[in-house]
Amino acid sequence: KDQVYILAIETSCDETAVAIIKDGKEIISNVVASQIESHKRFGGVVPEVASRHHVEQVTYILEEALSKADMTMKEMDAIAVTEGPGLVGALLVGVSVAKALAFSHQLPLIGVHHIAGHIYANQLLEPFEFPLLSLVVSGGHTELILMKEHGVFEVIGETRDDACGEAYDKVARTIGVPYPGGPLVDKLAQTGEDTLNFPRIYLEEDSYDFSFSGLKSAVINTVHNAKQKGEVLKKEDIARSFQESAVEVLVHKTKKAAQAFQVKQVIVAGGVAANSRLREALTEAFSETDMHLAIPPLALCTDNAAMIGAAGYIAYQKGNRAGLDLNANPGLDL
Ligand code: KG4
Ligand code: ZN
Repeated sequence: KDQVYILAIETSCDETAVAIIKDGKEIISNVVASQIESHKRFGGVVPEVASRHHVEQVTYILEEALSKADMTMKEMDAIAVTEGPGLVGALLVGVSVAKALAFSHQLPLIGVHHIAGHIYANQLLEPFEFPLLSLVVSGGHTELILMKEHGVFEVIGETRDDACGEAYDKVARTIGVPYPGGPLVDKLAQTGEDTLNFPRIYLEEDSYDFSFSGLKSAVINTVHNAKQKGEVLKKEDIARSFQESAVEVLVHKTKKAAQAFQVKQVIVAGGVAANSRLREALTEAFSETDMHLAIPPLALCTDNAAMIGAAGYIAYQKGNRAGLDLNANPGLDL
C-alpha cells in the first residue's frame, strides 16, 4: 500500500492525545488535551484523577483528530497505542479504546513503547541516520539509547534513581513553584546566577548512567539550611545553580557516548528536551563535530500521539501486530 494512515492514541500520563499520521512521517492531525489544571492543586499528577479525565476526554479528542484531518475511521490502516510504561489506569483507557476501534473496524492493532515514541518524534521532521544516539529526558526517564536500525533500542545508560524531569519538579516544589515545575524553573534560571555550587554527579568514569537524587537533596538541604539561618536565597539563583549542574552532566555524558559509539545523529527527546539551557548547551557541544544534533520543537518534545504514530508505523512495516488481548504494561521494557 502506498499510503498508510495510522490512528495513534497516547494516554500514559496526564495528556489525552490522538493523532493521525501518514506514512510514519507526516502529521495529518495531532490533538493533545492537557490535564495540568486539574493536577496543579495537588502539586503533581494524581493517577486516579488522570484515568478519570482520560475516560471523559478520549472520545472527544478522537472525534477532533478525525475532523481536523477531515477523515473517517474507514480511511485508517492501523491503530497504534501506548501500551507502557506509564500510569496503569491511564494506559488502560487508551489501550481499551484502541482495542475497541481495532475490533469494530477490523484494523491491525500495534502496541507502542512510550519512549520509542519520544525518540520517533524526530522522524516526523527528518529521517534517522544510523548509528543514532538518543538522550531521553522526561518526568519518568533519563536514558541514553543507541540505535543501529529502526525499532531496535540498546539502553547504554540510565538513571539509577530519580529521572531528570522528576528532579526538576521536586526542585520546583522546594522553591515554591507550581506544578509542572520544569518550565518555570527553566524560566527562573534564565535570570539567576550559578552561585550555589551544587554537585555534578558523574558516577564511575566509564559509566553512562545518571543520578539526580544527590543533586535534588543538595538543593533541598541548601534551601532548608538557609531558612534556618534566616538567610534569603534568590529563587532564580537556586534554579540556575540546579540547572547548570543537571545540564552539565547530561551534555558531558551524551557527548562522550556519541563519540565512543561514533554515531551520525544525536536526538534529544522527552519533556526536558524542551529546556532552553539543555538545548543551548547541546547545540554548542555538537557544533564542532560532524554529528548531526536534532531536537524536536517543543510541542513534539512533551507527550503527544503523533510520536506514537511515527513509532507505530515502524512496527506496522515490520509486521508486528498486537492481539486483542493487548494489556497496559506500566513497567514495559524498551
Ligand atoms: O515527556 P513528558 O511530557 O512526560 C513524561 O513522559 O514524563 O515530560 C514531562 C517532564 C516534567 O518533569 C516537566 O517538568 C519536564 O518534562 N519539563 C521540563 C521543561 N518542560 C517540561 N523540564 C525542564 N525544562 C523545561 N523547559
Ligand atoms: Zn513522555
